[in-house]
Amino acid sequence: MATVVSAVEMGARQREISVSEFFTKNRHLLGFDNPRKALLTCVKEAVDNALDAAEEAGILPDVAVTVEVVASNGAPPPASQATRFRVTVIDNGPGIVRQQIPPIFAKLLYGSKFHRLRMSRGQQGIGISAAGMYAQLTTGKPVQIISRTGPRASAHFFEVSIDTKKNEPRIFESKKIDWEHPRGTQVMLEIEGRYQKGRASVDEYLEQVAIANPHVRLVYHTPEGETREYPRTIQELPPQPREIKPHPYGIELGMLLRMLHDTKSHSLAGFLASDFSRVSAVVAQEICKTAKLSPDARPRNIHGDDAEALYKAIQTTKIMAPPSNCLSPIGEKAILHGLFKQIKGDFYTAVTRPPAVYRGNPFVIEAGLAFGKGPDQAASTPDAPAAPLAEGEEHDEDSELARVIRYANRVPLLYQQSACATFKAVLETAWRNYGIAQSRGALPAGPMVVFVHMASVWVPFTSESKEAIADYDEIRKEIKLALQECGRRLGVFLRRRERAKSEFRRRNIFELYIEEVVEACARLKGGKLPKAKLKTQLQKIAAKRTGGAKTDEILGRESGPEGLPHSIIVTPDGTEGEAPTLPVAGQTNGGPPEAPPPEPELPAAPPKAKVRAARGAKTAKRTSVAAKRKAPASKGKTAGRRTARAAKRTKR
Ligand SMILES: Nc1ncnc2c1ncn2[C@@H]1O[C@H](COP(=O)(O)OP(=O)(O)OP(=O)(O)O)[C@@H](O)[C@H]1O
Ligand SMILES: [Mg+2]
Repeated sequence: MATVVSAVEMGARQREISVSEFFTKNRHLLGFDNPRKALLTCVKEAVDNALDAAEEAGILPDVAVTVEVVASNGAPPPASQATRFRVTVIDNGPGIVRQQIPPIFAKLLYGSKFHRLRMSRGQQGIGISAAGMYAQLTTGKPVQIISRTGPRASAHFFEVSIDTKKNEPRIFESKKIDWEHPRGTQVMLEIEGRYQKGRASVDEYLEQVAIANPHVRLVYHTPEGETREYPRTIQELPPQPREIKPHPYGIELGMLLRMLHDTKSHSLAGFLASDFSRVSAVVAQEICKTAKLSPDARPRNIHGDDAEALYKAIQTTKIMAPPSNCLSPIGEKAILHGLFKQIKGDFYTAVTRPPAVYRGNPFVIEAGLAFGKGPDQAASTPDAPAAPLAEGEEHDEDSELARVIRYANRVPLLYQQSACATFKAVLETAWRNYGIAQSRGALPAGPMVVFVHMASVWVPFTSESKEAIADYDEIRKEIKLALQECGRRLGVFLRRRERAKSEFRRRNIFELYIEEVVEACARLKGGKLPKAKLKTQLQKIAAKRTGGAKTDEILGRESGPEGLPHSIIVTPDGTEGEAPTLPVAGQTNGGPPEAPPPEPELPAAPPKAKVRAARGAKTAKRTSVAAKRKAPASKGKTAGRRTARAAKRTKR
């Protein structure tokens, strides 16, 4: 017989659950489901915060990331077998005032970004403290922080961890120290993790950060002792996004009730006009009239049916779309620079859509394309030694399908691709219209990288770990429009190149016969013909008949723009369009890289570090190095010279 439990006994079992206890049990919700992903999440949270802080303070970000293997007993194992890592992230941001350090790093749901409507990478106030909690859980080590607010202030060193029962910080160490950096923050976490290259790795994440943030200088010391440098290619900060008030269309009834209760306004009309964006005094009067409420009513006294009437009135009143200066899209130029810097290709293009709105939240969609294998494909780079495959990764046969790189507020999204609105939009775009093969319901085929970015004051993620964008119709429609424009430009480029190629083949055939024709004419004339003149004339006709100079231009024999907006075309002889001049980092063969700028000084590379320029080992085939590319080279005309140069480039 079942035991009977009384309500009193059951009542005695009720206990409050602190948010830290909840997330200790549910850490998968925050991106700590397995050791590999946990390593990525820790790096990501710290880097996202570093970039947010520097940008908000108006500082061009300089960030150094070091991931080191921690020896458990004896000699440290190789990175691929290690289970314990130390993650250190140093920024040159504004620093953090002393009293704020413990709650920021050791209290969940504490932050400066949750309560405001402004685009930033972080939203929830949970990221870095959750990483600290994971460290504490898996290695027992507290988080170590050094922060300094300026050259005249002293640096503070803290060791903190979370008291999970209370969700309050516990301070183990707090002291002033000497620190070589004049300003900034350093976070150090010791965690259980796994380091693996390939898809969704720390390496891929940092590479993609560099693509979408060309104003950031990033240095990455890998667990294998390499140093990768991602130089800054845009020297100015993106425009500062403004903070906005909520738009009336975006709020739910419950939220409206809370706002009515919390407002400082004394009248309903005043509340509507001052607490929302785009509600003028006239619009406020109109809403009150539709709701049959007095504009002078006290906001606190509005509840029940009145509140519902007000809510309905808001929905039926015509209100201007929210302002978009709360957003800071990457911009076409920066996307082009980023793609060009990191991905090899023949054609690049980028599109920034005008702002749109979903549920009252303004957003901007941006898309980009990098197509082709790059002119030096002939002397193809030897593949990197095969790394073990990561979760969700397939062998190289899939390299024939396009790769989609997704971003939300400039942060790369590396998991849950198929659940993401961006990915669905790529599948739904009819790539065949643009000359790209695509099987039904599949990604387009070809050597192509598709870039999609959503910038918004509130990105609708499908889960707390911020991995995929929810599928709102408005959002998907915008993504498709952006992709279609990119596709259209790619189509133009491909068609022109195809036509030029066929014209060029035709010209070659003409040229073969010209020699014969000239000889025959000379014989007919009894040798009295100016052969050279006739030959030149015939060659001129052949060139004219086969597209003239245009053919040369498209095939890169002469440089010249092709009239495609926001695009770069790469040919064996250089680049056309809005190509950036890349800093030539690590150009010398294995020599030391350029000395880093003095501020901030970057952490010393681990011993035996092999320095080389930014380059993903696994993605070496698709990823190009700043140093590997050269600004437009002299115009070589012969195939021989071109191959020689290509060979030289790959050696570098
Ligand atoms: N490197 C840093 N420099 C200056 N301030 C920082 C730094 N890192 C964190 N902060 C501050 O600490 C707060 C909490 O950071 P945390 O990562 O926990 O949350 P968040 O970034 O606001 O949101 P999310 O949970 O989405 O990451 C931030 O809002 C920011 O104000
Ligand atoms: Mg954060």
